[in-house]
Amino acid sequence: MSLVEALQAQPAERLRRFRRTAGLRDLVRETRVSVRDLIYPLFVVPGRGIVEDLDAMPGQQRFSVDTLAHEVETVAGLRVPAVLLFGVPEEKDEAGSGAYDPDGIMPQAIQAIRRAAPDLVIITDVCLCSYTTHGHCGVVREGQVDNDASLELLARTAVAHAAAGADIVAPSAMMDGQVAALRAALDTDGFTDTAVLSYAAKFASAFYGPFREAAESAPQFGDRRGYQLPPSNAREALRELARDVAEGADALIVKPALPYLDILHQARQRWDHPLAAYQVSGEYAALKAAAANGWLDGDRAMDETLTAIKRAGADFIITYFAKEFARKEHDE
Ligand code: PBG
Repeated sequence: MSLVEALQAQPAERLRRFRRTAGLRDLVRETRVSVRDLIYPLFVVPGRGIVEDLDAMPGQQRFSVDTLAHEVETVAGLRVPAVLLFGVPEEKDEAGSGAYDPDGIMPQAIQAIRRAAPDLVIITDVCLCSYTTHGHCGVVREGQVDNDASLELLARTAVAHAAAGADIVAPSAMMDGQVAALRAALDTDGFTDTAVLSYAAKFASAFYGPFREAAESAPQFGDRRGYQLPPSNAREALRELARDVAEGADALIVKPALPYLDILHQARQRWDHPLAAYQVSGEYAALKAAAANGWLDGDRAMDETLTAIKRAGADFIITYFAKEFARKEHDE
């Protein structure tokens, strides 16, 4: 039998039939990313009139509270539904008191966003690392991050954000019990409607590099392996997710995204909660650097990574590409 005869003897299934034209391919498309799936991270710094480019994150900037208004009008105008807010305080101290100051950078930014773009969903990062002199995500006692002492401060931070008008608080410190601590504090203070989006499976990753420059949050000694997940451990990640579900998390994040699609996929199968993936700063920076060198097609790489993240199970994606993706979607 010749090769051609062998092929003709096969059942009539030919997968290429639906790949022949753009119309056919579109008809059988299983996963579509929309701007409505995306959350845009924003960095707020002290001062006035500041719009500052970030070297390692081409196209991304830091804003002062006053310039933030214009930026969120643009974001909302592009129909990006939500922002994730990070603050850098005027002054850092050992206890990260700028994080839970009711008049601090975050409450000011939240109020400014609410005024400028009333319908934009406001999500806030709840962590101490940008606010502490040592750059760790909790309180340091005798060279160690003290889990339980950190919980109270994280809870106060979440309450300050809720009081200023945040819709969703997102604890990212990876302290044991942080979701329960936040939920209890929010409920006690009457913020029963503020949702908790937990960075439940957050890995100790090299891909956070550019972010630490943006948020000025690099640890001044040691690293975060004492509290963030080891990249080698999938079952441990699922236990973290299960804990946060048990503690009352309303929605879950897997972070970073592309290196952890297996975790995302398993989380999707196990839980019915809204599930987010965070395509982090280093994932963005790597693609941007390669595209700038002409080593890959930046547009296609953006589309492909976002599609892969959604295909693996994300309901929404936190990504620095949100505005760029939105502009492309609206142009088409
Ligand atoms: C704060 C926090 C980090 C990121 C989000 N929240 C940094 C870290 O854990 O060091 C990283 C986001 C990014 O890289 O885009 N704990």
